Amino acid sequence: MSEKQKFYITTPIYYPSDNLHIGHSYCSTAADTMARFKKQTGYDVFFLTGTDEHGQKIERKAEAAGVTPQAYVDNIVAGIKDLWKLMDVEYDDFIRTTDERHVKSVQKIFKKLHDQGDIYKSEYEGLYCTPCESFWTELQLKDGCCPDCGRPVEKTREESYFFRLSKYQDWLIDYIKTHPDFIQPPSRTTEMLNNFLIPGLQDLCVSRTTLKWGIPVDFDPKHTVYVWVDALTNYINALGYGSDDDTLYQKYWPADIHLVGKEIVRFHTIIWPIMLHALGLPLPKQVFGHGWLVMGGGKMSKSKGNVVDPVKLCNRYSSDAVRYFLMREMPFGSDGEFTNEALIKRINSDLANDLGNLVSRSVAMNEKYFGGVIPTPAEYTELDQKLIDMATSLWQRVEKNMNGLQFSGALVEIWKLIGECNKYIDLTTPWILAKNEADRPRLGTVMYVLLECARIVAVLIAPTMPRTPARIFAQIGLDDENQMTWESVKTFGGVKPGSMVKKGEALFPRIDIAKELELLEAERLAAIAEAEKAAKKEEIPAPADEEKTVFTQKDLCQFDDFGKIQLVVAKVLKCEKVPKADKLLKSTLKVGDTERIVVSGIAKFYTPEEMVGKKVVLLANLAPRKIRGVESHGMLLCAANADDSKLSLLTVDSDMEDGCEIG
Ligand code: ME8
Repeated sequence: MSEKQKFYITTPIYYPSDNLHIGHSYCSTAADTMARFKKQTGYDVFFLTGTDEHGQKIERKAEAAGVTPQAYVDNIVAGIKDLWKLMDVEYDDFIRTTDERHVKSVQKIFKKLHDQGDIYKSEYEGLYCTPCESFWTELQLKDGCCPDCGRPVEKTREESYFFRLSKYQDWLIDYIKTHPDFIQPPSRTTEMLNNFLIPGLQDLCVSRTTLKWGIPVDFDPKHTVYVWVDALTNYINALGYGSDDDTLYQKYWPADIHLVGKEIVRFHTIIWPIMLHALGLPLPKQVFGHGWLVMGGGKMSKSKGNVVDPVKLCNRYSSDAVRYFLMREMPFGSDGEFTNEALIKRINSDLANDLGNLVSRSVAMNEKYFGGVIPTPAEYTELDQKLIDMATSLWQRVEKNMNGLQFSGALVEIWKLIGECNKYIDLTTPWILAKNEADRPRLGTVMYVLLECARIVAVLIAPTMPRTPARIFAQIGLDDENQMTWESVKTFGGVKPGSMVKKGEALFPRIDIAKELELLEAERLAAIAEAEKAAKKEEIPAPADEEKTVFTQKDLCQFDDFGKIQLVVAKVLKCEKVPKADKLLKSTLKVGDTERIVVSGIAKFYTPEEMVGKKVVLLANLAPRKIRGVESHGMLLCAANADDSKLSLLTVDSDMEDGCEIG
């Protein structure tokens, strides 16, 4: 027997966060779907995921929670593993950057690069974005902030080690140009070349002395390895690279695909290949930068308050339904908007109607007309043959799409067959055939064709929806595992005449969309109220004899907290009342080159005319919120007395330009 071809696929390693959102699940679901597909098509697959546990961000969060960084991450990692279990993300290994195997290997790699002269000691003076763990130059900043996340950067100056990225720049440009598949989709190649490589690479600062929560440089322990250098090596460390047992490394490296979100393509296609090349190791065959799941036009992120909890969705609609939605809704590589409505519509139309109906109607008719016994097909007509040809050649179209990571394209192809089957029922009208004894053989053939198509569909959806196939097989009376394989869908005739169908529960019950949306919105509001209540509970009231403005220790705002807030000067261009809301004014603000709408509850204190021309203080990075049907992008700061009988807008004292930052 010939040896199986190897396939090594990875997700990024996730920052430990106590609530991974549906955006995070997107990458893992895609990697898992791909891994399952490759297994199904005969590959020897290794699927790696894990957690990226070091860095300033974690250090500060642990400090805020009053626990050690290790205790902080241990607790969260358990939750992440639970989520992958719930979503049927079946990895072969889960690496944590706090694992000893990883720490040791990072130290060895750092030392090797240092000993061969690719890492050298110097002094770093520059700008650092803590949330992104990224270094930036003044020129790269956008409006003075991190160009990736838009948050403020911090000035740092310290003795550091540097990695000679510049030395390998020309080699990398040449490599990328001669390996067009290396960075996918192709638009990301252009982005990397034009935005980073062609303008020129600077040597990268790869150690910090101010950070303690990380991997120490073993030959100079006051230095901690830069988190991205630490994190990227996980892909080889998990395979035992450089350890006493590197069997897996020898077997699976280079990776076939690193699946990553588009914002971290830069690290995976510049720093990582240069590190590997400097170490004399082969490069991954492909880095695929997928798009983001967005909400209200922005990337889903906890700090923006626009996250959707995958646990809730899976418990409510089933993990298969959620996985289907994620893989179907947007072409892999592009961004896609998440809305509850889109999710429910997909479940209703594609899963309950198309797939669910095909299975339930076929099984029900077979029960009704043949007492549940699957009939032997008679001769196939031209109409049957057309459907059969479509069904038995479907694997080719699915395979082509899947190999190009076009999950949505593959599902569209499968659903074309489902659609044709449902049409076939309408064309063959089994209920009329059933009326005439002479049509029984024809009726039997129609039943058989439908059940067999359902079998083929069940096999082909398995990578995306791992739980549904078994439920379909049970209903169409199939227990022969040979008829559940990838090979089996290339020929027609896997369903066994004579075996019994068995009606089961609806695969995906139809959802009352209006009711459901109302319920979800009520839940969302309740969750917000709950969070606000919890936050209030944590506040320690000031002792009675203290001045109101004296803050207790607990009230102190850390610099990191304040850094998250973006206050700017904004000029009111237009202002009007919000219809049917006597407290609300809708203002159009000018903030530098941009305009935005903000709704404020100040109509009792200001007329629209008074507002126009004012230079006000805007909380600019507040998550957008719909208020009385108007989407509000930010909040105008006001001072108000205790019973809200007096209110005054905060304005700036001298004539500052709109767009100016406050802080
Ligand atoms: O970046 N839509 O970790 P992470 C789609 N530790 N994908 C999203 C998303 C969204 N709304 N939000 C997050 C890191 N992701 C580093 C990786 S690898 C050596 C180190 C994706 O937890 C994001 O694009 O911030 C990334 O691919 C993954 O979730 C992990 O993000």
